[in-house]
Amino acid sequence: MPGTSPDRPPIRVLVAGCGTGAEAYAIASAFPRAQVVGIDFSARSIAIARSCSKSGAAAPQFAEADLCDPTLPQQAILRKRFDFISCQGVASYVPDVDAALSNLRKLLTPKGMLYLGVNGAGHHSVRIRPLFRALGMDPTAMSDERSEATGRDVLRMYEILTRRREGELSDESPSYIANDVFGPINRCLPLGDWLALAGKAGLEYRGNLGTARFAGALLRPELLASLLGLKRAEVAAFFDGMISDVFHSLVLTPGEAKKKKERAGEPDFADATALMPWRPLVTLWDRTELEGVTPVERPVAISLTIPGVLRRATLECRFEIVEILRLADGKRSLAEIYKSSPLLAAARVESAIPSLFGLYHSNALQFLPPASR
Ligand SMILES: C[S@@+](CC[C@H](N)C(=O)[O-])C[C@H]1O[C@@H](n2cnc3c(N)ncnc32)[C@H](O)[C@@H]1O
Repeated sequence: MPGTSPDRPPIRVLVAGCGTGAEAYAIASAFPRAQVVGIDFSARSIAIARSCSKSGAAAPQFAEADLCDPTLPQQAILRKRFDFISCQGVASYVPDVDAALSNLRKLLTPKGMLYLGVNGAGHHSVRIRPLFRALGMDPTAMSDERSEATGRDVLRMYEILTRRREGELSDESPSYIANDVFGPINRCLPLGDWLALAGKAGLEYRGNLGTARFAGALLRPELLASLLGLKRAEVAAFFDGMISDVFHSLVLTPGEAKKKKERAGEPDFADATALMPWRPLVTLWDRTELEGVTPVERPVAISLTIPGVLRRATLECRFEIVEILRLADGKRSLAEIYKSSPLLAAARVESAIPSLFGLYHSNALQFLPPASR
């Protein structure tokens, strides 16, 4: 994690809606020099989180705080801004999501990053909650043991019919059933709607695990060619519109102040000339394996490990893609790569672009902005 070397100031991490503190403790123990703060509006959760504390500088600090409170950014423990905020499984349940996202935005440093985990339109509660009414039950509150038992039965039917593992949802804890199946609010939105809310709060979309999964499963250049003109957020919304993901794992950053800079971080795959100065970078794969592949003028199978997205994938790549990946060190531009490789001398970049687009949206390949920027 950046900022953890002894000569740099410690990075500040906020776990917003930290519950009983498991994530805050995990971050504090993995990064002993990080300053970790956990907030939650449940006094009981904060008391439990504090009671788990072992003494020591690395212990997180905890405070009771409501994410929707307009005075949140002024609270003493939050006044110094955060380099990284994790907010998982919270924004779907708050009454005022605009206020919560706006607060998260204000709590970030200008170069900070927010991980936002929220429910998608494919979440089981979208289908299940309206069914409770047909059974004469109120989905906004789990009233008693009988409604809990009926809720679990309905979930079990859903698991069987959707070919899930039986018990995956129906054997969850009573608090999960009370808050995630029942409950006053459960905001399960398509990705495009979450991105619109984030944009309204001044947060800019950077990436989403679901998009990477879907693009990774679709590394077929002939299919991807029609998507080249879409921006990063549009690609994400497109795939989610098709699949309706259950959960969105979003990475957001504070929006750029100047409109002109809005897309500075995005290569334009629809314009081959504009793409040429961008510098491709393979970061997530095992490069040593890639070096071992000898590209010849026919498709070659390459085996990739993409942590967190596709654990392992074997792809059939055209020889020029293998060659570009081998040379994609983040220093050379695409133009320089084409110029320096005899294998690419006769190749046209246009034929490689749909594959590069797919690899980029699978999180397997980055594109750094042109060197002069
Ligand atoms: C589903 S739990 C998620 C906990 C934890 N982030 C995790 O991933 O395990 C939701 C948490 O958000 C907290 N929460 C809900 N609304 C909140 C609000 N307006 N302000 C602060 N915390 C809130 C709840 O008390 C609960 O601890």
